[in-house]
Amino acid sequence: MKKATAAATKTAKSSRSSAKKARAVPMLDLSRQYDSIKKEVTKAINRVCASQHYILGEDVTEFENEAAKFLGVKYAIGCASGTDAIWLSLLASGIQPSDEVITTPFSFFATASTIVRAGAKPIFVDVEPETLNIDPRCVEDRIRRFASAKIKGIMPVHLYGQCAQMDELNRIASDHKLKIVEDAAQAFGATWRGKPAGGLGTAGAFSFYPTKNLSCYGDGGLITTNDEKVAAHSRSLRAHGSTRRYYHDEIGWNSRLDSLQAAILNVKMRHIEDWNKRRNKRADAYDILLKSSGLLGSPGGAKTAPVRILKRTPQAGHIFHQYVVRVERRDELKAFLDKQHIGNMIYYPLPLHLQKCFAYLGYAPGDLPESEKAAKDVIALPIFPELTSSEQSAVVGAMEEFYL
Ligand SMILES: Cc1ncc(COP(=O)(O)O)c(C=O)c1O
Repeated sequence: MKKATAAATKTAKSSRSSAKKARAVPMLDLSRQYDSIKKEVTKAINRVCASQHYILGEDVTEFENEAAKFLGVKYAIGCASGTDAIWLSLLASGIQPSDEVITTPFSFFATASTIVRAGAKPIFVDVEPETLNIDPRCVEDRIRRFASAKIKGIMPVHLYGQCAQMDELNRIASDHKLKIVEDAAQAFGATWRGKPAGGLGTAGAFSFYPTKNLSCYGDGGLITTNDEKVAAHSRSLRAHGSTRRYYHDEIGWNSRLDSLQAAILNVKMRHIEDWNKRRNKRADAYDILLKSSGLLGSPGGAKTAPVRILKRTPQAGHIFHQYVVRVERRDELKAFLDKQHIGNMIYYPLPLHLQKCFAYLGYAPGDLPESEKAAKDVIALPIFPELTSSEQSAVVGAMEEFYL
């Protein structure tokens, strides 16, 4: 028995030392994707340049049609960024100055800044510790306790590519006559009960920032909706509030998607399903590697596990924009991985309710404990469709070396 333990320890040590020697693992390597679609992309760019049509136009219309089909919505409206997509869809959904919109503090800044840009007030409620998505119980509790007539909307974020609890959120929205604007920036192709994100509320907003699972070669965004009026209003808002050139019904913004970005997105639309599947395979591989590593502890084990995997909600079709785990001594692990050139990121180190610019909202440390805990212990590991098994072993090997 002793001999077997010694042999196992030796094998583990040698796998750790080979991980140590392993090459660096990038957090994201977009050049691998580029290499695989270079011909298609070059052709598309050359075609746009030859047409000399750079703003909106045929490529944008084609992308909007293809995206609407893929996402199962009636309307898709391209715009200049994910931030604009959220902002304009809030306005188009009828959010007015001095309204209140309930959202999560555990997200990228734009989730809340767009509510402020729309003239409204963000109301932050806590997240579920297992998924880190907005907790519907906290949404309902907040509505019951404050009974504010000003609350007009809920903005769930499908964090890391997994849908928030849309059954409960839609029930609450319908009980209290609220709009739902989905921040689906990280979730192109994610589903809830088989239905794609972006069509699960009043409107949805996507980002095509280069690190996103569907991305362009610059900034880009998309508004989605099944509501004809919201669609028409979004189209007008992205073009200076005009439906007829040089005639302005209201003050909108310049938030047009350009033809080059749309042409690149049209190429990528042919691959997105496959890429999302490959992200899922990579995520499954991480689950297996972590489970067999001992980093998750063993049932009834004496020591607490240093690593915890986030829960996959059964109703959600995850697209793993990010693969995030919760860990002990997060900042030390991060420094260790950085030193070994193993990619990692912290999404997000400071929840939105504690950001300096939102001090006027009056939140204090301890108000939203689950979000605050998550900000201290989450770490995202490299995930992208072209990531290799040996790179994943190197990532987990480095974590073993740090903890075990
Ligand atoms: C959750 C979330 N919301 C909004 C945005 C904003 O998108 P963009 O950077 O395209 O403006 C992002 C991406 O950066 C995001 O991750």
